[in-house]
Amino acid sequence: MTKYIQAVKGMNDILPEEIDYWHFLEAELRKLTDVYGYEEIRTPILEKTDLFQRSIGEVTDIVSKEMYTFTDRDNTSVTMRPEGTAGVVRAGIERGLFYNQTQRLWYLGPIFRHERPQRGRYRQFYQFGLEAIGFSSPEVEAEQIMFLVRLWKFLGIANRLELQINSLGTTECRTKYRYVLIEYLTKHSDKLDEDSRVRLNKNPLRILDSKNPAMQEIIAAAPVMSDYLNDVAKQHFQRLQELLNAAEINYKINTRLVRGLDYYSHTVFEWVTEALGAQGTVAAGGRYDILIEQLGGQATAAFGFAMGMERIIELVKEFSANLIKPNNPDIYFILVGDQAQKQGIILAEHIREHLPNIKLITNTQGGSFKNQFKRADKSAATIALILGEDEVVAGKVTIKYLRDERPQQTIFQTQLISCLKA
Ligand code: HAM
Repeated sequence: MTKYIQAVKGMNDILPEEIDYWHFLEAELRKLTDVYGYEEIRTPILEKTDLFQRSIGEVTDIVSKEMYTFTDRDNTSVTMRPEGTAGVVRAGIERGLFYNQTQRLWYLGPIFRHERPQRGRYRQFYQFGLEAIGFSSPEVEAEQIMFLVRLWKFLGIANRLELQINSLGTTECRTKYRYVLIEYLTKHSDKLDEDSRVRLNKNPLRILDSKNPAMQEIIAAAPVMSDYLNDVAKQHFQRLQELLNAAEINYKINTRLVRGLDYYSHTVFEWVTEALGAQGTVAAGGRYDILIEQLGGQATAAFGFAMGMERIIELVKEFSANLIKPNNPDIYFILVGDQAQKQGIILAEHIREHLPNIKLITNTQGGSFKNQFKRADKSAATIALILGEDEVVAGKVTIKYLRDERPQQTIFQTQLISCLKA
C-alpha cells in the first residue's frame, strides 16, 4: 500500500465533529463585533517579510525564530503572517483608511508560528482580533476589555479567566527604564541565559518575560517599570483602572507583563487561565501608538488585542459544552429502488424549495431498507421520509418519527409540504 501523507507538524485539521464549536464561537463574535460597531477586514496571509521585521521587531522570538519565511518566485522575501495587527495596519495605510479617520476593525483567520507544538500551542492557529485605530483614550481600551468580559460571560467561562494589565509608559519613560534595567542586568550578566544575553542591549524588557526558572530570582529583584512612569503615563493608566473599577471588572496589575512584540506602549493586557496548562494566555494586546508611523503612515494612536480561538474552544469544551446544540438533520430521506431514487432527489429539491430552513439528507448511495434505516438513525435525524416502490406507484410517501413514539403515516406526495410545515 502507498504510504499516506501526514499533515505538517503543529498544523491541525478541524473535523466535522468539532466544527459546531467553531461556528458557535464565530457566530457570537460576529454578533458582538456588530453590536460594538467593529467592521471586518480581511488581509492576505502572505505579506512582505519586511512588514513583520519592522513592526514586531527583529529581536523578538517571533521574528528571530518563528516565522514561515520563503523567497517568492520573483525573489522577494515573503512571510506567512505570524500575527494580524501588522497586516491590518499595512492595509489601512495603503488604502487610506486612517488619515483623519477612526476605524474599528476586526479580523479572524489563520496565523503561523514555528513554535514547539504542545497543548494549546500550534504552528497554524486561528486568531480573532479587534483593532481600534485613531483612538488615544483609555476609554477605547476599557471598551475592548468589556467586549471580552461580555464574551466570557456568554461562553460561561468568566470565572476561569483572570485579567492582567500593565503600563509600559511612553517612549520617554521606557528609554529611562531601559537604561536602568540594562545597568541592573549587566551587573548580573553571569546569571543570564544565552537568549537573555542576546537581548540585553537590544530588547532588555523581554528578559523580564523569561520563563527560565534559573533566572526568576534576578527577574524578581529587577527594577519595575511602574517606578519610571511619567505623569502622562500614570494618568493614562490610572484612568483605565478607574473605568475598569466602575464597570466592576476585576484585574491584577502585573508589573512583569511586557508582551512578546515590540510595538506596544502604555497599556498592555492579557487574559490568562490555569485551566489549559502551560499555554494559559487566551487573549492579549495593548496600545501601539508608534506602529502606524513606523510603517510609513501618519502618527496615529491605536489599541487592539488578539484571541487564540483554539484555546477558547478548549475552555468551552471543558466547561460549557452544554451550550453547543448539535446540528443534526431534520430529515433523512430513504429511497429504495431505482424509480424511488430518481423521484426522490427531485422531491427532496421540492422540499428544499418550500422549506429552505430544513436540513435534509438524501440517501444517494442505494442499499436495502434495513441499511438505509441504520444510516437514518446514525444521522440523528428527527424523521425519516420513506419512498419505496409501493409509494412510487401510489404517488405517496411515508413519514416515520425516529425520536418519538408517534405512529408512522403514509400520505400523498402532494400533501408533503403542508404536513412537514405542521
Ligand atoms: P500575541 O500575544 O502574540 O499577540 O497572540 C495573541 C493570542 O494568540 C495569544 O494570547 C494566544 O491566545 C494566541 N496564540 C499565540 N500563539 C499561539 C500558538 N502558537 N498556538 C495557539 N494560540 C496562540 C498578537 O498576536 C498581537 N497581534 C495582539 C494585538 C492585536 N495587539 C494589538 N492588537
